[in-house]
Amino acid sequence: MPSFPPPPLRIGDLVVDPPILQAPMAGFTNAAFRHIVRQFGGAGLLATEMVNARGFVWLDENDAEHPDRLWGVADEPRPLAVQIWDNDPETMAKVGRRLTEEYKVSVVDINFGCPVRQVTEKAHSGSYLLREPNRMSAIISQLVKACTPTPVTAKIRLGCSRTQINCNEIARVVEEAGAAALTVHGRTAADMFTGNADWDRISEIKAHLKHIPLIGNGDLDSAEKVVAAFKNYNVDGVMIARACLGRPWLFAQAAAALRGEPVPPEPTIAQQRDVMIDHYQLVVDRFGEDKGTVLMRKYACCYAQGKRGARFFRTHVAKVSTAEEFYNVVDEYFPNAEVATT
Ligand SMILES: Cc1cc2nc3c(=O)[nH]c(=O)nc-3n(C[C@H](O)[C@H](O)[C@H](O)COP(=O)(O)O)c2cc1C
Repeated sequence: MPSFPPPPLRIGDLVVDPPILQAPMAGFTNAAFRHIVRQFGGAGLLATEMVNARGFVWLDENDAEHPDRLWGVADEPRPLAVQIWDNDPETMAKVGRRLTEEYKVSVVDINFGCPVRQVTEKAHSGSYLLREPNRMSAIISQLVKACTPTPVTAKIRLGCSRTQINCNEIARVVEEAGAAALTVHGRTAADMFTGNADWDRISEIKAHLKHIPLIGNGDLDSAEKVVAAFKNYNVDGVMIARACLGRPWLFAQAAAALRGEPVPPEPTIAQQRDVMIDHYQLVVDRFGEDKGTVLMRKYACCYAQGKRGARFFRTHVAKVSTAEEFYNVVDEYFPNAEVATT
């Protein structure tokens, strides 16, 4: 049986305490979001959005610029993982070296789970690589060589589809190639986000790993579920994605529950609104009012989700283009009741 409370998670020499990770989410987990998550605490390791390694190299060679998705990475607090994706071992190694030597990131994570066509069919990367264990192995081992002593980790799904579940075999490949941890989203690529994450399958993987930690991911949206994941499934760590988008305080709640302390209550609606406004300010500071306001629309929808009147708020906030419009819509339509309905 797994021990409870779980000990801190070790990824190479890095101690991740508490063993609760903020998932990489393209289009969402930029420096502004990570800043908000850090303010609440409770996440032992934060991650960037996925960064395309080939794009990084191209930008570097042609425009002498670095990807926008690395905004903040050089300067923000550690620990921080940067996730990269591609199918070319050399390109991945080149970028891994830059991330470790220049950016001094804590972890380089590889995306072997993205199910989006642009990444799978067009670039033969992300979850597409689950059908090519040899290539996965080459990518990991070259990256490990380039990044040492910085740990390299892998994030996978259960397989490409329900009839091609191969996560146990992949887990062995990942460990043998030198990765320092494995994160598993308990769905297949074909599932996208449908159905429930299969935590029994995640749990089974543990027996196929000799030393490296297993991090479970999928559908964790409360402190209780995080506790249950540690108690019932053989995971050394958990990762939270969608549920933290509008509730960045979820990590602190889950961390308290793991310590056996009372779970801090949800912030009041007024406090949540203030968090959203702080978030908006960070986004505007970086991207300017026009781009920042448009970018904020999706975050604002997340903050409103699960509250009475969220749908009405979404309809209006989806059209804002200026700070004035944003604040007017927030004043007028941001939900003011805790009731969890849309
Ligand atoms: C909008 C969005 C963007 C995502 N982007 C990434 C990504 O860049 N890299 C990655 O490994 N997974 C990505 N994921 C998958 C999540 O990290 C996570 O594995 C998945 O959402 C399941 O966890 P959850 O049920 O807690 O949301 C993304 C998910 C969402 C919803």
